[in-house]
Amino acid sequence: MTPQQAVLVTGATGNVGPHAVAQLLEAGVRTRALVLEGDPNTGRIPEGAEIFHGDLADPDSLDAALAGVDAVFLMWPFFTLGVDTVPAVLEKIGRHARRVVFVSSIGVHIGLEPVDNRCHAYLEEQIEKSGLEWTFLQTTGFACNVRMGWSHQIRAGGVVRSPYGAASRSPIDEADVAAVAVRALTGPGHAGRRYVVTGPQALSQAAQLQIIAEETGQGLRWEDVPHEAARGAMVDAGWPPSYADGALEYFAMLVDRPETVTGTVAEVLGRPPRTFRQWVAEHADDFR
Ligand SMILES: NC(=O)c1ccc[n+]([C@@H]2O[C@H](COP(=O)([O-])OP(=O)(O)OC[C@H]3O[C@@H](n4cnc5c(N)ncnc54)[C@H](OP(=O)(O)O)[C@@H]3O)[C@@H](O)[C@H]2O)c1
Repeated sequence: MTPQQAVLVTGATGNVGPHAVAQLLEAGVRTRALVLEGDPNTGRIPEGAEIFHGDLADPDSLDAALAGVDAVFLMWPFFTLGVDTVPAVLEKIGRHARRVVFVSSIGVHIGLEPVDNRCHAYLEEQIEKSGLEWTFLQTTGFACNVRMGWSHQIRAGGVVRSPYGAASRSPIDEADVAAVAVRALTGPGHAGRRYVVTGPQALSQAAQLQIIAEETGQGLRWEDVPHEAARGAMVDAGWPPSYADGALEYFAMLVDRPETVTGTVAEVLGRPPRTFRQWVAEHADDFR
């Protein structure tokens, strides 16, 4: 990468994007943030990034953001966008950039996400076909998922009602996802790698809630919701039924077989991944 070349971050206003932008800027990289026109979340993007308006639903709108870019940090908004424009977007990226780092899912690694699910496995397949130099971050659930999933229930009375409290996941701090991505975007040796990116420890969902209780000084309780009731609620909330089934089957499996813990973060960054407890301590006010 020459000093003139830039990295474009999509999803720049999301959970991972602002960390990636901040870390790229810290590393002295010219950093562009792709933002939807009129996006009310633009303020989340750290100062110093060049803001480009563009919509992944409209590949032609990406031309200006991509001109002069060496690498793209790609996150795809599956739930709100679908995947119809994926081939055209990758074609656009391929005209300008050499390298793409894509936030995929551990679901692909364990074979839970078939390509015809039109989700992360589909994106991986399309990127592989594109001729771009790629790195896939097959990540486990982000630590911040508990904020979206549980914080309103915690504030509403301290009981979290959700399926499979005994299911153990290895949550990853979204800042660490960004950190691995930044290394893969800016350094050698990451092309063609599928990194399974996890946190340092598998924790049952109930144990995660206990950590939130300890760090926020509240009495909190887990209450299991049966599988079928949970599925109905997920579909009502807009989950495609096949995604809801995939997620619930995975959680059922994790009751007996805790999610894998890998050494990827330590190998790539030279330090251990941040713990779930660290994440909660830093975001305790989100649960009060
Ligand atoms: N959460 C997990 O546990 C998990 C696990 C494995 C993989 N992943 C993957 O990680 C990726 C990043 O997650 P995240 O939580 O950081 O994302 P997120 O918070 O859901 O953010 C989605 C981002 O995409 C932007 N966006 C939405 N529609 C767009 C469009 N048409 N064109 C351009 N940008 C658009 C959003 O903008 P605004 O919202 O500001 O409008 C936002 O910046 C996800 O896409 C998912 O595939 C997540």
